[in-house]
Amino acid sequence: MPVTTIEWIDDHIRLIDQTRLPEALVYLDIHDIPTLAEAIRSLRVRGAPAIGIAAAFGVLLTAFQYRGENTDELMQQLHETSQFLAETRPTAVNLRWALEQMMQEARRIAGASVAEIRDVLYRKAMDLFESDRQVCRRIGEHGAALIPDGAQIITHCNTGALATVDWGTALGAIFTAHAQGKKLHVWVDETRPLLQGARLTMWELMHEGIPATLMCDNTAAFLMQRQKIDLCIVGADRIAGNGDTANKIGTYYLALAARHHGIPFYVAAPISTFDFSLQQGDQIPIELRNPEEVTEGFGRRTAPEGAAVYSPAFDVTPNELITAIITEVGVLRPPFQEAISRLAKGE
Ligand code: MRU
Repeated sequence: MPVTTIEWIDDHIRLIDQTRLPEALVYLDIHDIPTLAEAIRSLRVRGAPAIGIAAAFGVLLTAFQYRGENTDELMQQLHETSQFLAETRPTAVNLRWALEQMMQEARRIAGASVAEIRDVLYRKAMDLFESDRQVCRRIGEHGAALIPDGAQIITHCNTGALATVDWGTALGAIFTAHAQGKKLHVWVDETRPLLQGARLTMWELMHEGIPATLMCDNTAAFLMQRQKIDLCIVGADRIAGNGDTANKIGTYYLALAARHHGIPFYVAAPISTFDFSLQQGDQIPIELRNPEEVTEGFGRRTAPEGAAVYSPAFDVTPNELITAIITEVGVLRPPFQEAISRLAKGE
């Protein structure tokens, strides 16, 4: 993709304001933690890996802005930033994972000088940034191997460059397959209520010249009935130890329809999206969004004032509906519990 979603520029964070897409490609320069927290909460930056990098850069920002020489005071500020950012979005485990990576690094050299802690955190944040790029390329290669030439593919939400540093997971597999010369056609769920599919995935696919068709979320089952679909591929926000997968609301419906029609259903995600501490999906915390995103999304009232709303941002697809999970180290197949416990041990 010709865009980098998030970057560290000298002493601050620069990211694409995704709420402005597809009308305008606008970059935000972020110099303080409350502004970063607002950007994460309001989905200016979104997608599990991208918010992980945003959070890591938030810890780095705190270290860069600390002007004193007291290590304990700096560690306390880093801790507060980390706690504060961890609360911005509860489901995507990459956020907490990245914060923990940064804090572990700071704690590892806690007796060092302020300048040393700042240097170490800078290197760690750059490592996480670079590693996201490489991890996505590897997911892309493993995923592309499952995509046949001529494939008709359904995807949900946005899992592309905009959801990571610059390539993507599920959409990254599609980009890699396309780069290999395969002819593809992608059916894109618009992804209610915030339209990440319509606004962001269509924008990315059209940029890349990959044939794509937008459809309302409630169209997929009918499409599967009428047209040969080869596979569905989606991302993940948190995967439990048994393979149950939290992803954008509507993913579970898609998986059910795919199972009914005998269509392979793939999840693509980095190892940082696995929560090895959870046995199963009902333990994953699910973010509830502001009712106004449903009743007057994008500034137009579409339900009566005062209408009761239920708006979970994610659902959980049970592992038995998932054909395989594509990671940077290879493709996991059922039984997922065994495959994931080997992954946890680094085998
Ligand atoms: O609410 P969002 O837009 O952050 O939700 C994003 C998703 O559900 C993605 O599918 C997931 O984070 C994987 S991104 C590679």
